[in-house]
Amino acid sequence: MARSEPVTLPATDCDGLELRRAERADLLAVFRIESASFPQPWPYDAFERFLGTPGFLVAELDRQVVGYVIADVVRNHGSPVGHVKDLAVHPDRRGLGVGSSLLSAALSAIATSGARSVRLEVRESNAPARRLYRRFGFDPLRRVSDYYDDGEDALVMVRELPADAGDR
Ligand SMILES: CC(C)(COP(=O)(O)OP(=O)(O)OC[C@H]1O[C@@H](n2cnc3c(N)ncnc32)[C@H](O)[C@@H]1OP(=O)(O)O)[C@@H](O)C(=O)NCCC(=O)NCCS
Repeated sequence: MARSEPVTLPATDCDGLELRRAERADLLAVFRIESASFPQPWPYDAFERFLGTPGFLVAELDRQVVGYVIADVVRNHGSPVGHVKDLAVHPDRRGLGVGSSLLSAALSAIATSGARSVRLEVRESNAPARRLYRRFGFDPLRRVSDYYDDGEDALVMVRELPADAGDR
């Protein structure tokens, strides 16, 4: 199968990093990273539902999938609002800028669809993710008690998007 068109990348120190839309052939690698990253991973078929959508992107290094992001846009009182639903990087490839590149590309995809704000949920205890989102201009909005199956609270974070860019 032909490879997807690559996504335009922000500057990164991660040599050889490529971002593109996810394909069916990526799903096993995506699911393995998900399972290594979260105590309550999404099931495999949850990823299938997002195939072909502009907000499901994978990052490749040396032709290996090393991370992914899933974002979509929903209507809230008639206005499009972006939602970052899932983001993870292989544990051996963290701290290289892969997560930042994926998030930046997802924000660009959301901005292209006309949304002017983005939200996400993050575990209160997830300090690396919270730092990443703060660096990207997300602010804490509110806490949702008992959001996760194990009883942990979620922090809802939001960021406005300028009309002309999805990058930070
Ligand atoms: C959160 C997550 C996606 C971040 O991915 P990542 O690829 O490590 O992210 P980055 O490399 O872009 O940034 C991580 C850190 O590395 C630093 N970094 C980035 N590029 C770097 C480089 N070239 N050299 C040195 N450090 C670098 C960043 O400044 C950042 O530092 P900080 O933690 O002090 O903010 C990753 O930790 C992960 O998969 N966690 C488990 C799943 C998860 O929690 N997902 C979020 C759910 S809401």
